[in-house]
Amino acid sequence: MKICKTVSELESAVSAFKTAGKSIGLVPTMGALHDGHISLFNRARNENDVFVASVFVNPIQFNNKEDFEKYPRDEQADLSVLEKCGCDIVFTPTPEEVYQNQTPETWTFGELEQVMEGKQRPGHFSGVANIVSRLFTWTKADKAYFGEKDYQQILIIKDMVRQMGSSIEIIPCPIYRESDGLAASSRNKRLSQQARAIAPKIHEILTKSYQQKDFLSLSQIKSFVETEFDKLKEFELEYFTLADADTLKVVKVKEPNQKVIGFIAVWLDGVRLIDIQKYF
Ligand code: PAF
Repeated sequence: MKICKTVSELESAVSAFKTAGKSIGLVPTMGALHDGHISLFNRARNENDVFVASVFVNPIQFNNKEDFEKYPRDEQADLSVLEKCGCDIVFTPTPEEVYQNQTPETWTFGELEQVMEGKQRPGHFSGVANIVSRLFTWTKADKAYFGEKDYQQILIIKDMVRQMGSSIEIIPCPIYRESDGLAASSRNKRLSQQARAIAPKIHEILTKSYQQKDFLSLSQIKSFVETEFDKLKEFELEYFTLADADTLKVVKVKEPNQKVIGFIAVWLDGVRLIDIQKYF
């Protein structure tokens, strides 16, 4: 596995493969790698000639300084996971290398960024687009893999690809869940033992709401989820939004064949966790 710390190292490592006509699969990460990442790595490894990953905690996508500082980091552990997963090239730059001390670009995504994560975390998606667009350009990847826990991020990145006029294929991958249902996330590491034990309630409540989808209206599903979280004093529900799977517009009454997803953000033990539930 080649470790590249600079953009020029990355570009020359990639260009050798590109010249030989090899396909490149990219998995961008912020490190603190877990089984969810590994499921993306396996896809990138199996579906491309060359598997490239990045490990970069992108400062400009954090709108909360404390969240950025507390973000778990363990580069040695991450490199060993990547090596085991058959990674060919890993890019581990510093913020100075990525941004060259220049002001980042401002990306806008219209209504897609005015709800949920975009609304709660101003500037977050512009920050994501800054790093992901650069990674796409530098790696010349054919495909890039993203987990559906960050479903809104996937739609934003697809829109970014459209704005860039790029032909990279964005591959959404199913959420990897721990055996108790909790969606894998680097933030899970920050939960106390007690909080970790009740964290699977998020998926449990969403699953229960899904099981009632044929009997309940969307507003009843919304109040079911909100009431269940009200009963659990350890959780603070930030939002539970039922939205169209393509446009992210809030859906109050479902049209026939409309794909609706429930998006949730909750606080538990000072940690913000997100998840989704498809109702189709
Ligand atoms: O989903 C993430 O981990 C990050 O937002 C990403 C895509 C690696 C960009 O920093």
